[in-house]
Amino acid sequence: MAPRAAGKRVVLGVTGGIAAYKAVEVCRRLVDAGVHVMPVLTDDALRFVGEATFSALASERCRHSLWDDAEAIPHIRLGQVAELIVVVPATARFIGSYAGGIADGLLLATVLATRAPVVVCPAMHTEMWEHPAVQENLSILVRRGVQVVPPDEGRLAGGDVGAGRMAEPAEIVDAVLGMLEVGPRAVARRHKDLVGRRVLVSAGGTREPIDPVRFIGNRSSGKQGHAIADAASERGAQVVLVTATAKPGPPGATVVRVDTAAEMQEALLEHATDADVVVMAAAVADFRPKAPSGRKLSRSEGLHEIVFEPTPDILAELGRRRREGQVLVGFAAETHEVAQRAAAKLSAKRADLIVANDVSVPEAGFDHDTNAVTILAVDGSSRQVPLASKREVADAILDIVVDRLLDRDAPAGGDRDPRSDL
Ligand code: PMT
Repeated sequence: MAPRAAGKRVVLGVTGGIAAYKAVEVCRRLVDAGVHVMPVLTDDALRFVGEATFSALASERCRHSLWDDAEAIPHIRLGQVAELIVVVPATARFIGSYAGGIADGLLLATVLATRAPVVVCPAMHTEMWEHPAVQENLSILVRRGVQVVPPDEGRLAGGDVGAGRMAEPAEIVDAVLGMLEVGPRAVARRHKDLVGRRVLVSAGGTREPIDPVRFIGNRSSGKQGHAIADAASERGAQVVLVTATAKPGPPGATVVRVDTAAEMQEALLEHATDADVVVMAAAVADFRPKAPSGRKLSRSEGLHEIVFEPTPDILAELGRRRREGQVLVGFAAETHEVAQRAAAKLSAKRADLIVANDVSVPEAGFDHDTNAVTILAVDGSSRQVPLASKREVADAILDIVVDRLLDRDAPAGGDRDPRSDL
């Protein structure tokens, strides 16, 4: 029994997918936890499960129409009295209509007419789940503050196996009770907290040509940037990784391979336009040969003078072009005056966070498997991450990024977790 959830009013929406039978179990478990459950089924849901089942198990009779009810405007009443709405399962059609603001039927009208938190539990075949249209629509909902209990991999209708199988009822009920008790921020931490977010990461060191066979480069291996991309992907994000290395990106990510600062800038500016988060972990050259030779320079020709010119400052450009709500994270690789230099970069580049990386610390920085950083935020707060694996550093950065995203999603004065302060 979850004491703070007991008596809370929850609309249980059920849409038309084979996983609708699992909504019966969700209903029973919520009622057992003392929650007041108000079931709303779509017409398609009724093809899979019966009205009588939900009316018998739930706290109120089952509703499914805007029109056949004594209440004149049932969606407004349901939307106003609900303290949370959970949609189990959420089909591709429901997700698309909800993202598009189409009040097609009682359930869609109710989720559009509420100020209560909404949780959706997608369930569909792998091909549909991975379709860009579905992922785009889900991103829209996530940016509006809708919580997602993501599907698992497993057996699907028709005997196929893959991603898209709805989360188990116990997990869904756990998420609902958690939200009723502690709020969406705490629940997001227990689930894939970057589902529906687009995360753009840069990694590796650029190579600026001197001639066709030589370049000016640096010691970056790309390990830190790739660890951030891997972590973001595992936390459910759609990842675009712009990398100056040959390392593989996370499964399902878009990987753009580049060599020079100019190529990296072009790829990043293109993909940043619709990114929710941009993390600049790459070691971009600050200078490049002004006029690289078109043919191999040879010793017999004697000494060559190389004239350098500055490369574009990509992070500063991303800061100038940043779209509203985007979280921008830069790094500062320093060997001295680390805190001051990192703080100066934070304001000069208009970033939300700067990861100060003292690369003089043994086992930290370039090419190591471990790193030690201090994450500085624009509000003056900071968090130290002592020597840890680059993956752990990546997760520490993403924890703060998720807090920033939730702050931006939350209505003014809404769900604000004091632990979100660094
Ligand atoms: O790749 P690894 O071997 O795992 O090493 C990790 C790392 C040390 C490279 C990484 O942790 C790190 O510190 N990356 C930033 C390296 C760097 O170029 O720092 P900077 O202080 O010179 O640049 C400041 C910021 O501006 C960085 O976010 C950088 O990506 C960005 N920048 C720099 C120059 C430039 N022309 N354009 C930029 O956008």
